[in-house]
Amino acid sequence: MTQKVTKAVFPVAGLGTRSLPATKAVAKEMLPVVDKPLIQYAVEEAVAAGIDTMIFVTGRNKNSIPDHFDKSYELEKELEKSGKTELLKMLRELLPAHVSCVFVRQAEALGLGHAVHCAKPVVGNEPFAVILPDDLIEDGQRGCMKQMVELFDKQQSSVLGVERVDPSETHKYGIVEHTAVAPRVGRLQSIVEKPKPEVAPSNIAVVGRYILTPAIFEKIENTGRGAGGEIQLTDAIAALMQDETVLSYEFEGKRYDCGSKFGFLLANVEYGLLHPEIKAEFAAYLQQRVVNI
Ligand code: UTP
Repeated sequence: MTQKVTKAVFPVAGLGTRSLPATKAVAKEMLPVVDKPLIQYAVEEAVAAGIDTMIFVTGRNKNSIPDHFDKSYELEKELEKSGKTELLKMLRELLPAHVSCVFVRQAEALGLGHAVHCAKPVVGNEPFAVILPDDLIEDGQRGCMKQMVELFDKQQSSVLGVERVDPSETHKYGIVEHTAVAPRVGRLQSIVEKPKPEVAPSNIAVVGRYILTPAIFEKIENTGRGAGGEIQLTDAIAALMQDETVLSYEFEGKRYDCGSKFGFLLANVEYGLLHPEIKAEFAAYLQQRVVNI
C-alpha cells in the first residue's frame, strides 16, 4: 500500500544561542523575515506540500508560537471595527481551515533526535516530514517540501534534503556520501554529524528538510548521545540506513540559514527585494547605499 505524507513535525525547542540576545525571550522561529515569522513560512511550505497536520515540538519561551496560530479575537474585532478588511483577511488566512495544529513539549533540549521522538505519539505509524524553520528555502515555485513529497510518493523511502556547501563548513552540518540514482537523487551510503573538513566524506550537507519513515523512532530510542552531547537525528538516520533505503535529494531553491545572523540578514534582503509592498523602494535604497559603502 502506498503511503502519503500528511504530517509535519517542526522541532522548535532549541535554545537559539547563535541569535542571542534576540532569542532570550522570543522564540527564534518567531523572528520575522520582512513581515512574516520564520514559522509561518515553514507552515506554508508544508501546506503547499499537501500536509494537513502540523506538529510543533516546543519548549520554554515558545508560547508565542501557539499564540501565532490561535485565533486572535480581540485583534480581529478591532480590525473589523476599523474597516481594515485586507488585514483581517490576511490574518484569517494564516492557517487554512483544513489544517490542524498539535503542540508537544520537549521538557529538556536534549537534541534534534530527541525532539523528533517527542512527536512519536502524534505521528504514529506513518511517514512524516520534518521541517526546521530556521532553514528558510526560497523556491518561488513548488517549495522544497513539495519536491520531496513528490519523490517520496514515487519511492516510498525516507528522503533527506541536501545541498553542497563550502568544504570549510562541513563541521556545521550532517554530511552524507551517496550514489547518484537519478538527477538530484542519491542513495545514502553514509552520514556523519558535523565532521571536520579534513575528515568529511563529502561536502554534501543535510539541510532542515526530511521525510522519514516511522522506523526512525526505534532508531532514535537506541541512539545514545552523540556530537555535542545531544541525541542526534543524524545518528538515528545512520542506523535506519542499515535497514532501509534512504535517499538524498538536491532540492531546487535557495536556502538561507536564519539560525545565523548573516543568513538571517541575507534572507531579509532577498525577501525584501521580492516583497510587493516594499521591493521598489528597498531596491532603490540598496542601489544608493551600496555605492556609499
Ligand atoms: P540548532 O542546531 O539550530 O540549535 O537546532 P538551536 O538551539 O535552535 O540554535 P543554536 O545553535 O543554539 O543557535 C536545529 C533545530 O532543532 C531544534 C531547534 O529548535 C532547531 O529547529 N531543536 C534542537 C529542538 O527542537 N530541540 C533540541 O533539543 C535541539
